[in-house]
Amino acid sequence: MKLFSTYADKIRAAAEALRAGLLVAFPTETVYGLGADCFNPAALARVFEVKGRPRFDPLIVHIAEPDAVDRAADVSLLDSQGRRRLALLIRRFWPGPLTLILPKQDAVPDLASSGLPTIAVRLPAHPVARNLIRLSTGAVAAPSANPFGYLSPTCAEHVRDQLGDRVDYILDGGPCLVGVESTILDLCAGEPRILRPGGVSREELEALIGPVSVSAASGAEASGAPRAPGQLKSHYAPRTALSVHPRDEMIALPCETGEARLFFEAASRDIWLGTLACRSLVPESWTPVLSKRGNLAEAAARLFELLHFLDGLGASRIRAELVPNRGLGPAINDRLIRAAEKDG
Ligand code: TXA
Ligand code: MG
Repeated sequence: MKLFSTYADKIRAAAEALRAGLLVAFPTETVYGLGADCFNPAALARVFEVKGRPRFDPLIVHIAEPDAVDRAADVSLLDSQGRRRLALLIRRFWPGPLTLILPKQDAVPDLASSGLPTIAVRLPAHPVARNLIRLSTGAVAAPSANPFGYLSPTCAEHVRDQLGDRVDYILDGGPCLVGVESTILDLCAGEPRILRPGGVSREELEALIGPVSVSAASGAEASGAPRAPGQLKSHYAPRTALSVHPRDEMIALPCETGEARLFFEAASRDIWLGTLACRSLVPESWTPVLSKRGNLAEAAARLFELLHFLDGLGASRIRAELVPNRGLGPAINDRLIRAAEKDG
C-alpha cells in the first residue's frame, strides 16, 4: 500500500493501477471511495472481499463526464418522462452528490449491480476523483472506502486506519466537504424515489422534477422496515454503543461519567451543561457539537469525522442528538439512526 498526495503524476499512476485491476481509494466531495475498474470482474470481486461486503449489495459506478452515463446505463430503456427527468437532474446536480439508479448497460459486469437489472451512477464533484476517472477507463465502481457496516471515511487517514494494506493506493485529497454520502434516487420505478437520503435534499429534487417519494427503507423514515439492497441496518456504525435522542430528551439526560455526547448545536449543549451542572463532570472534548450555529451543511460535513473521533475515546456509550428534519437533516438522522440500530 502506498499513500500518495494529489499531484498529477500520482493521479496518473493511480489511474494506471486501476487499469491494471488494482484498487485505489480516492476522495470525493461526499466520502472517500474504494475504486475498481467497472469493467474488470476480478477487480470488482476484490472490492467486496476487501470491504467484507455481501455480494448482494451493489456498487455505484463513478463517471467523469455526463455523456459517459451511457457507458454504465442504457437510458433508452427509460420512458420519455424518465429521460426528461434524467436530463434535468444531470444539468442541475452533476457533478455533485446525487446518485441515479438507471437501467444497466449490458457491458457492465453483473457483479457491479449484484445481478440487478439496474445500475447506480454518479458524477462526483471532486477534481481528484474526476481526473482519476478520466485517466482510467472512464467508469470506476466504488463503494465508500470503509469495512462493511463501519463509519464512512471523510479523510485519507480514516481509509488508512480502516483498510490499510488491503488497498493498493490511497489518493489523499484532504477532508470531504459534504461529508455524508450521495442521495440515491431511483428513476426506474415510476415516481422518482429516494432510496438513501444524502448530500442533495428532497426539497431541492422536488423543486426541479416534482414529487419524489422516500423509500420506507431509508432509516429516518421507518426503521425496521424491509430494506432495499444495501440499505442494511448496521450501516455507518461505530464500534462504541450509540443511542440517538430528540433534542428535548438530550438536554434532559443526566450526566454519566464515561459517556460521550454529540450535540447538534452549541445552544443545546449549553443548556445541557448549564441545567444539569455537568461542566465539572464531563471533559469538554467528550461533548462536541456538529455545528455551533446549527447549520445543517456544516453538521453533515463534520458528522463522520466526529463519530470517528468519539469512537476512539473509549467511552462506554455515545449519545447523539437528532437534528431538524429539513434540508440535509434527513441524511444526517438516517446515518445516526443506522449507527444506533447496531445495538438493536
Ligand atoms: O457518496 C457516495 O455515494 C459514496 C462515494 C464514494 O461516491 N459512495 C457510497 O457507496 O456511498 P456505497 O457502496 O457505500 O453505497 C452505495 C449504495 C448501497 O447502499 C447500494 O445498495 C446502493 O447504493 N445501490 C447501488 N446500486 C443500486 C441499485 N441498482 N439499486 C438500488 N440501490 C443500489
Ligand atoms: Mg457505504
